[in-house]
Amino acid sequence: MAPIRSSIFFAFVAVAVASAASPTMIVHESRAQPAHGFIRTGPAPDEQQLKLRIALKSSNIPGLESEVMAVSDPTSSRYGQHLTPKQVADYVRPTAESVSAVTSWLKANNISATSVTPAGNILQFQIPVSQANSLLNAEFSVFEHQDDSNNETSIRTLQYSVPADLSAHISYLQPTTSFSTPRVTPQLTAISTHRSNKRLNLDPSCADMGTPACLQAAYGIPSTPATQKSNILGVSGFFDESAKVEDTKDFLTKYRPEIANNTFEVTLLDDARDDQLIGGYIDVQYAMALATDVPLTYIGVGFQNPDGMEGFLDQVNTIINMTAETRPTVLSTSAYFNEDDYTLPMAQGLCEGYLQLSALGISTLFSSGRFGVAGASVICKDDGNGGLVFAPSGPSGCPWVTSVGTTQLVLDNYTPDNFSEIGSPVSAGGFSNYFPIPEYQKQDVVNYLATSVDGSYKGLFNATGRGFPDVSAAGLPFETFINGFLAIFTDNQPPASTPVFAAVIALLNDELIANGKSPLGFLNPFLYSADGRAALNDITEGKNPGCGTSGFNATVGWDPVTGLGSPNYSKLRKAVGLPDKA
Ligand SMILES: *[C@@H]1O[C@H](CO)[C@@H](O)[C@H](O)[C@H]1NC(C)=O
Ligand SMILES: *[C@@H]1O[C@H](CO)[C@@H](O)[C@H](O)[C@H]1NC(C)=O
Ligand SMILES: *[C@@H]1O[C@H](CO)[C@@H](O)[C@H](O)[C@H]1NC(C)=O
Ligand SMILES: *[C@@H]1O[C@H](CO)[C@@H](O)[C@H](O)[C@H]1NC(C)=O
Ligand SMILES: *[C@@H]1O[C@H](CO)[C@@H](O)[C@H](O)[C@H]1NC(C)=O
Ligand SMILES: *[C@@H]1O[C@H](CO)[C@@H](O)[C@H](O)[C@H]1NC(C)=O
Ligand SMILES: *[C@@H]1O[C@H](CO)[C@@H](O)[C@H](O)[C@H]1NC(C)=O
Ligand SMILES: *[C@@H]1O[C@H](CO)[C@@H](O)[C@H](O)[C@H]1NC(C)=O
Repeated sequence: MAPIRSSIFFAFVAVAVASAASPTMIVHESRAQPAHGFIRTGPAPDEQQLKLRIALKSSNIPGLESEVMAVSDPTSSRYGQHLTPKQVADYVRPTAESVSAVTSWLKANNISATSVTPAGNILQFQIPVSQANSLLNAEFSVFEHQDDSNNETSIRTLQYSVPADLSAHISYLQPTTSFSTPRVTPQLTAISTHRSNKRLNLDPSCADMGTPACLQAAYGIPSTPATQKSNILGVSGFFDESAKVEDTKDFLTKYRPEIANNTFEVTLLDDARDDQLIGGYIDVQYAMALATDVPLTYIGVGFQNPDGMEGFLDQVNTIINMTAETRPTVLSTSAYFNEDDYTLPMAQGLCEGYLQLSALGISTLFSSGRFGVAGASVICKDDGNGGLVFAPSGPSGCPWVTSVGTTQLVLDNYTPDNFSEIGSPVSAGGFSNYFPIPEYQKQDVVNYLATSVDGSYKGLFNATGRGFPDVSAAGLPFETFINGFLAIFTDNQPPASTPVFAAVIALLNDELIANGKSPLGFLNPFLYSADGRAALNDITEGKNPGCGTSGFNATVGWDPVTGLGSPNYSKLRKAVGLPDKA
């Protein structure tokens, strides 16, 4: 009897709501055109099932932002007192009113949704296209990208609506109006898949190549083994990358033979396969070689991304849900995207995810990209009037991440005490169109714009946006092992500057924890402080060309090519309050 009663009950609710008021719908998000390169090929089939996610407004993001600043600002009395997952969830959890308004609307439409985040701010449900079209006044269609050699299709709508009285409770629904630019799978085919000792045009001396020894010398990175097992360095791999175990071992055997037996943990999400077939994964190799004995977890993200953001948000929620024993204290990610691949509400939702990681005491480092002022791909942004403007990358525009640019060591006549460092032309940098300048870098950005950008760039970038990168490190050319071969990573690969900087932070955390202190957590308030910046090598040469310009210039102080500069380990040790070594 029970099932019948409950279906009668639901039918009654549905009728009651429907007759009470056919709700006034208002457009929640819309765009005039699909994203650059996408073409609509026709309507989406009515019966096709769509997995939709609805992000509810969090109850108190400003409150969480103040908390994160209070525990990340070295001058604060609460510095280092990172929050617990439960404390974070209390700020992120939507209000009871939001939850009840939205779930009642869904129930009235016979939809049951489940929460996919610990704080319950994102709900998921599955309905056919026909129902999604009527529920949201939408027109879900099939889109293809003209340059996608895999001919993958996306089901999207250029506009959707929600009941007017729910609008204030909803951040966004997806997949709807955002389009992810297809990824070009790294072409590693030039390297034979036969295992052999043959080397690719390699001069193994430090004179012309980044190697672990070279980076240790350049930045004073110690090779003393870390001791703290709770201090985990997380290294991300997006787009179903695989961190090949054997290549990592070969790499360590060559460059750090004393730790050649070190291994790493693996956490996979979004159906990542970690197939160990291609990809040596330079990030894991450098992170392990530099962060001696720091436990490392490779966090691999596959292609099945229900977050509609290529797994970036799925990864955040996976990390938030990890236990304290397995959660990293530093997260290093060399993947990036075009900032405007995602709509503003989605980008804000992801940035709130990094805010949560910051609150938990995680230092979240992202590569700024590798196409200079063109950001994450060679395609510059269309200004809407047929012109091209600079294309900031994401998630570097989020003020709660530390964005890492790329430098090059100039190693002519190399000795450990004689090298110079310049901004690499690949180093992506610029100004966000989505996020305003955060307080911690306001003076730097204002100074830079006033003194180091001539008038010819007016209109090409957003002078009120968050500037990035924050810091930088050498990233190319590097030696790496791929499929048993020693290869050279040059400027057509993503630079490995982020794991280098992340290794430095992981080693500092190890020493801090060993001295009874907290890990550094969100780094930027420290990095931009007088002590923080004085512990970095200011890089004053180099530029990051793109979009038909010579890009921005590196200069004295912060600049959108190299940020505040590259690390000096011994100075950083002092700046974070570690006692002098005996
Ligand atoms: C709700 O779904 C059930 C089960 O699929 C179905 O029997 C019922 O008719 C639906 N009710 C409404 C109002 O759509
Ligand atoms: C969090 O982790 C637990 C246990 O590992 C799992 O059962 C749960 O589904 C996860 N929750 C979310 C929202 O991912
Ligand atoms: C994609 O479509 C093009 C043109 O129709 C075709 O030549 C190509 O083989 C397709 N690629 C794949 C991976 O199916
Ligand atoms: C780091 O800074 C210290 C203090 O100025 C300096 O002596 C040292 O040479 C620097 N280390 C490197 C590797 O540049
Ligand atoms: C690595 O393990 C092998 C096999 O157990 C052992 O012979 C070797 O000495 C170890 N190497 C190091 C550097 O510990
Ligand atoms: C450092 O290298 C430069 C060339 O890059 C050379 O002119 C200079 O003499 C070297 N300095 C020392 C101290 O070796
Ligand atoms: C420039 O940045 C500001 C601050 O984030 C933003 O409000 C504004 O919309 C941006 N302008 C453009 C044209 O994107
Ligand atoms: C970068 O520096 C060069 C050389 O000093 C100068 O000519 C150019 O105007 C600068 N670029 C910008 C955008 O100001």
